[in-house]
Amino acid sequence: MSYYEIQGGRPLYGTLAIHGAKNSVLPILAACLLTSGQSVIHNCPDLTDVSATLDILRLLGCRVERKGDTVTVDATAPERWSIPECLMREMRSSVIFLGALLARLGTAELSYPGGCELGSRPIDLHLAALRSLGADILEEQGALCCRCCREGLRGREICLSIPSVGATENIMLAACGCPGVTTIIGAAQEPEIIDLQSFLQAMGARVSGAGTANLSIEGGLPLHPAEFRVMGDRIAAATYLCGAAAATGEVEITSISPDALTAVLTCLEEAGCQIHTGPDRVVLTSSRPLHGISPVRTAPYPGFPTDAQAILMAALSGGEGATLFVENIFDSRYRHVDELRRMGADIQLAGRAAMVSGVGRLHGAAVRSTDLRGGAALVVAGLGAEGTTQVSELRHIRRGYQDLDKNLRALGADIREIP
Ligand code: UD1
Repeated sequence: MSYYEIQGGRPLYGTLAIHGAKNSVLPILAACLLTSGQSVIHNCPDLTDVSATLDILRLLGCRVERKGDTVTVDATAPERWSIPECLMREMRSSVIFLGALLARLGTAELSYPGGCELGSRPIDLHLAALRSLGADILEEQGALCCRCCREGLRGREICLSIPSVGATENIMLAACGCPGVTTIIGAAQEPEIIDLQSFLQAMGARVSGAGTANLSIEGGLPLHPAEFRVMGDRIAAATYLCGAAAATGEVEITSISPDALTAVLTCLEEAGCQIHTGPDRVVLTSSRPLHGISPVRTAPYPGFPTDAQAILMAALSGGEGATLFVENIFDSRYRHVDELRRMGADIQLAGRAAMVSGVGRLHGAAVRSTDLRGGAALVVAGLGAEGTTQVSELRHIRRGYQDLDKNLRALGADIREIP
């Protein structure tokens, strides 16, 4: 099984254009189903999660082509509305197809996505919202059968008790097919929601409010295919920045909005890095060991992103001083901690809290990716560590990073994939 081999301690220098955002492109690809005709999506990253999404679209009867980072989806004649278990297993977020299929075909069948490496991940909010829009949903032996009720779908007000990103997106997609106005109170405010709104607007949908807690969708309007460029991936950007923070050097990340990274940049600055930003770029300079910072509490946007928790923790583990992390979004998101400990990290866990005491420098070890961001965190740790780090289970990393090793090599890292 292949793994990355990293000789740590090489400073990183140079410029890197960040690829399109995984969490943005997945709902946008599902949204292509909403209308007949061919939509064109630019800046579509080459990730296994994206390939799985394209496979689902093909299976549903869409014609899909990729040329470089441009993907065309022709959704003129979808023939199926059912997603088999093997594809659902591959990618939990394919639950986003529920809303899109319901809006386009009035019916959707898929297997229950169940838990994943981050612990139990319920979809009760998705289902309750779709039911209130007029869907009849049967949950039987792990399968979900979803159909419009006899009166059809109808827009209405939906209050989310948690600002769930996936539920907000699913409601937005379903609501496009519901005559009347749907309002979402307590919506997720992540930048990826704004990207989805922009794509839906480009298709002719009347959607407003993304980026705030209240969204409004006027459904039932005729939509048309659209051409769209996906935003840069803020979590991939955070990963390269934390890598440079751990390894020292000066790295410029482009094709990214610094505003989407404020919570992460504030932490890196407090830890001793210098940060300069332009409209679409961030430059980070790190020249000395990082030091401990005030507690890092993950929270819905604009709070500190749970997806960057492991990555920042890896960088700070090899610095000096203590930092308390509190994971508030997922109940099992410290699986990287055991692996970081193999590299000499001093991390004490107590429920949702992790106390990191910087050890000055981590040392290389053979470690295993436990999940997507946990795997990226081990690469970050390896870049700053003394000696050789081997990171295995790269399938997790490939879900969300295009050319991670190649990009890091271009910045001066000594990293290669051993087949
Ligand atoms: C999305 C992102 C993921 C990120 C997460 C939080 C995608 C593809 N994935 O995941 O990378 O880590 O947002 O920023 O965009 N919840 C419920 N019931 C529900 C739905 C969610 O209780 O029906 C809970 C979850 O268990 C979790 C919290 O709400 O504790 C937030 O989850 P949510 O925002 O839905 O995350 P995802 O959309 O799955």
